[in-house]
Amino acid sequence: MATKVIPGLEGVAAAETRLSYVDGLAGQLFIGGHPLTELAPNATFEEAAFLLWHDRLPAARELAALKDRLRDGQSLPAATHNILAEAATKQAPVIDALRMACATLSLGDANPDDTRPEAQLSRAEKICAAFPVIVANYVRVRAGKEIVPPRADYGHAANYLYMLTGDEPHADFVRAMDTYLVTAMDHGMNASTFTGRVIVSTESDLYSAITGAIGALKGPAHGGAPGPALNMVFEIGTADQAEQNIRARLERGERLMGFGHRVYKVRDPRADVLSQAAERLYEQAGDRSLYDLARAVEETALRLLEEYKPGRNLQTNLEYYTALVLHGVGLSAELFTPTFAVGRAGGWSAHCLEQLSHNRLIRPSSAYTGPKDRRWVPLADR
Ligand code: ACO
Repeated sequence: MATKVIPGLEGVAAAETRLSYVDGLAGQLFIGGHPLTELAPNATFEEAAFLLWHDRLPAARELAALKDRLRDGQSLPAATHNILAEAATKQAPVIDALRMACATLSLGDANPDDTRPEAQLSRAEKICAAFPVIVANYVRVRAGKEIVPPRADYGHAANYLYMLTGDEPHADFVRAMDTYLVTAMDHGMNASTFTGRVIVSTESDLYSAITGAIGALKGPAHGGAPGPALNMVFEIGTADQAEQNIRARLERGERLMGFGHRVYKVRDPRADVLSQAAERLYEQAGDRSLYDLARAVEETALRLLEEYKPGRNLQTNLEYYTALVLHGVGLSAELFTPTFAVGRAGGWSAHCLEQLSHNRLIRPSSAYTGPKDRRWVPLADR
């Protein structure tokens, strides 16, 4: 019987999840049962990660205990430092350094064979705690600067900014970073989350799963789009250049980064959350010009996408305003995808724990299209 192939597994439900709900037609996203529009401007990374791991928001005492445990996870194994130093000698991209370093975190695990749920949760916390330290340390080492150790009185988002720059982060920047990390934390069965779930479904370990997820995230069809999206805005430069520039891109058959989505056929709700966060950020900094330019470019892009790709419903996705928010808090474009991973680590780890809690090996089939009538020919006769 012919096997029916569904390219890209589009519309295939590969798992049940309580972690997030994406309604691509209504343009809604719920994380841990909360509308993103309410959660993202209020929650910290720690609160949202706790929500995914435990299915409820933490009480004050639980949040304080989680922060203590995350502090423990901020010290990296010696092997992690070594691999970052080695990657720096090659000037490796930050996202590649994060992928390599993530794989070494298992060397800091005193009991890697302990697969009890509490041990897996503790591993999830440690991986999340390590990510901002890895990214910040790497960026500094590669630039020949001293690393900046995290501060015990700072939360996850504040420490990330602090370790990157060595400067006390402004409260508005910390709020914007938390909003971004929560917005990026989970999004149904996206490609990197699926990758992580496939890996743990073989009863492999969390370090392998999350290392694989980083690999899946880095491509431009997934988490690699915000850098090019911001570059496009910079290249356009002024609102009156938008039409000509975008038309030329579409004429060349290019895809506009930050637009289109496999699931959303209306505007990605994360784009709204981040657009509002960006507007606040630029307003407070006293210079809205880049934000206003981005809005004008977006308007033109949407109009021209409808003209060149009618009926495809290509709308703004999260990545477009990711670029603006992260640029606004002082991050360079190369840090956009690694910062996505810092936020998404909460979701990846929660999905791994969920998969393990009622595991069934994820093993789809394929439809064979090759021949079956070939015969062995000895090397001398080929
Ligand atoms: N710019 C121009 N045209 C586009 C774009 C775009 N950004 N996105 C899709 N299209 C076109 C395609 O060329 C195709 O045209 P056709 O029907 O004439 O062949 C049509 O719209 C449908 O596109 P698909 O490839 O079927 O859409 P798919 O669901 O596979 O792709 C994706 C989704 C990968 C996100 C795509 O929209 C894209 O490449 N966007 C740009 C990159 C980007 O922003 N990535 C971040 C995604 S969000 C995230 O992962 C966090």
